[in-house]
Amino acid sequence: MCGIIAVIQERGVVAPFLHQALKRLEYRGYDSVGVTTIANNTLYTKKDKGKIEEVHKRLNLDEMPGLIGIGHTRWATHGAPSMLNAHPHFDCEDKIAVVHNGVIDNFIELRKELSEKGHKFNSETDTEVIPHMIEDFVKDGLGLIEAIKEVTKRIEGTYAIVAMSTEESDKIVCTRDGNPLVIGTKSGASYVSSDIPAFLPMTNDMILLLDGEIASLTTEGIHIEKLSNGAIVDRETIKISWTADQAKKSGYPHFMLKEIHEQPDAIKETLRLRPEIVKEAASIIKESENVYMIAMGTSGHAAQAGRHMFASLAGILPSFELASDFPDTVYGSLSEKDCIIAITQSGETTDTITAVKYAKQHGSKIIAITNVVGSSITRLANHTIITQAGPEIGVAATKTFMVQLTSLALIALELGEMTGFRNSKEIVKKRNSLEKLPELVSEVISRNEEKARRLASILHEKPSLLFLGRGISIATAEEGALKLKEISYNHAEAYSAGESKHGPIALVQNDYPVIFIAPSDDTRNRIVGNIMEMKARGAKIISVIQKDDDEIRDLSDYVFTIPEIVESEYSVMPYIVPLQLFSYYMALRKGYDPDKPRNLAKSVTVL
Ligand code: AGP
Ligand code: GLU
Repeated sequence: MCGIIAVIQERGVVAPFLHQALKRLEYRGYDSVGVTTIANNTLYTKKDKGKIEEVHKRLNLDEMPGLIGIGHTRWATHGAPSMLNAHPHFDCEDKIAVVHNGVIDNFIELRKELSEKGHKFNSETDTEVIPHMIEDFVKDGLGLIEAIKEVTKRIEGTYAIVAMSTEESDKIVCTRDGNPLVIGTKSGASYVSSDIPAFLPMTNDMILLLDGEIASLTTEGIHIEKLSNGAIVDRETIKISWTADQAKKSGYPHFMLKEIHEQPDAIKETLRLRPEIVKEAASIIKESENVYMIAMGTSGHAAQAGRHMFASLAGILPSFELASDFPDTVYGSLSEKDCIIAITQSGETTDTITAVKYAKQHGSKIIAITNVVGSSITRLANHTIITQAGPEIGVAATKTFMVQLTSLALIALELGEMTGFRNSKEIVKKRNSLEKLPELVSEVISRNEEKARRLASILHEKPSLLFLGRGISIATAEEGALKLKEISYNHAEAYSAGESKHGPIALVQNDYPVIFIAPSDDTRNRIVGNIMEMKARGAKIISVIQKDDDEIRDLSDYVFTIPEIVESEYSVMPYIVPLQLFSYYMALRKGYDPDKPRNLAKSVTVL
C-alpha cells in the first residue's frame, strides 16, 4: 500500500523521473499523489487528491527544479484523500519533507505532545508527526540521520520512511520497519522505492534494506547502518533479472489484460525452476508432522488448490488457514515439527508476514512461495521458491496466481515421488501433462476472449452472481468470484456446488446467473445434478466445460470451453482463465479501470 520513490542524481532535474516512477508504482495506491524536490535551499512541492495523470494535468509534475526529490502515491489510512493529507508532509519551517508507508500507532499521543510544544499540523495523517519530530531533534543539534534514528525510538507501528532536508540537500535518508523499501544504485545516482519496477528503467542493481536499518543515499553511493547499535552494514548489490519492458503495457490497454496474456510464458518460466529448490521444499514438507498453507486473497485460492494437489499426488493433506486468522486459529498448537507454506506474490502482505513471524516463534519451519526477490518473506523463510511471473502491476492478480499453482504442482509431484503415494509411471504422466499447460492456457485465452467480452455485455447489469464448483474447482470458483468483485464491483459469491443447496440456492430466481466450473473430472456428474437444481429454479447457467462435453453444453445458456481434458490437479489453471477475462470485460463494460480498483492496493501492508 502506498508507493514511495526518491532519487538523488548528479545532473538533470529529477521531476520527470519521479512522475514516471510514480506511475509505475500507482498500483500500490492511487487516492492522491505528491512530489517534493529541493533546489536553491528551498522545497518545491506539488500534491493533490486524485490519480497521477489527473494531478499532472492540473499541476504539471514534470516542471519542478532540483537534482533531489521524493514522491508518494497514497492509500489513505488516516485522513480522507485530500490535498492536505497527500504526502509529502513537512515540518513547521518547510525544510524537512517526509513520505511514509504504514501506520504510526501512537500518533495521537505524539501529535498532542508536539502541538503543546507549538508545532502546527496541516493534515489529519499519522505521518505528519514524523517531520515535526525530526525538526525538534535537528533543532537540538542532530544531523538528519541521527534525528531520524531518534524518531524511530519514539514511534510505534509499521513504517517505511523517506526524508530529505534543505539543510542537507546532498542526501536522502530512509528507514523501515515492517514496510518495504528497496534501494537502486548506479553511477551518479541513487534511488529508493517501495518496489523494484519504479527504478527499473534506470538500473537493475538493487540493494536490500532490512527492517531496523537506516540508509543514507548520495550521488556517491549508499551507506547503511543498523538502528540498534549503529553498526555499518556492508550489503552486496543484487542484479534484478526483470526488465523495464516487462513493467510496461506493451500495446495492451491495461496491465491486467497484458498479464492474462503473459500467463503461458509465466508458467513456462516457472516450470524451469531448479529441481533442487523444489526438492528441498518437498523434503521439508515430508519431514514435518503438520503442514499448514497460509495466504490471503488470490494466493489463498492457490493454497486451496495446492492442498488438493498435495493430497492427490502425494497423499498429504495440509490445512489451509487465512494468514490473518492463523494465530487465532491454531492457538499456539504449533511446534518445531510443523511446517508452514506461506504463499504471497508480493512477499510483503502484512497479514502473511505476521503469521509467519508467529509460526517462527513456535519453531515451525517456513517455506515461502513468492514472486519478489528480496521481499520481506524471503528473509523470514527457511526456504524460498521464487516464482517466475516477472513484475505484476495489475492490482487483480492473474499471472502470479498461475505461477503459484505451477510451483505448488511441482512440489506436489516431487513430494509424490518421495512418499510413493503414486507409482512412478503415474508421476511421469502427470509431469508430462504439467509441461503442456503453457500451450493449453494459451489456447484457452484465444478461444475464450471474445466470448468473455460478449458475456460481459449480456450480464453487466446483473447485480449479483454465483460461482459454483466441487473439489479443486471450488478454488476456481472462489478466484473467479474474487476477480469479479475486485474490478467490476458485482456482488459475487463462490460456494461448493454441494453446499449451494444448503442455503445459497434461496438467492436464485428467474435469470439469476450461476457460473459452474465443470471440468471432466470425478466431480462432473455431481455438477450436472447441481446444474439441474439451479435450472429448475430459473437460473441462467454459464459453464466452463471441456469442449466435447455436449451434455453440459446443452444444459447451459452460455459456455466457455477448454480444448482438452486436463489432469484434475491442474484444472484450476486453464479453467480460471475465462473467468479472469470475463471480469476484465465486465469492468470495461461498466466503465471501470481494471488496473486500479477502488479501495484496493496491490500490496496490503496493514493488518
Ligand atoms: C488479488 O487479486 C488481490 N489483489 C488480493 O486478494 C491479493 O491476492 C492478496 O492481497 C494477497 O497478496 P499477496 O499475494 O501479495 O500476499
Ligand atoms: N498512514 C499514512 C497515511 O494515511 C500512510 C498511508 C500509506 O501507506 O499510503 O497517509
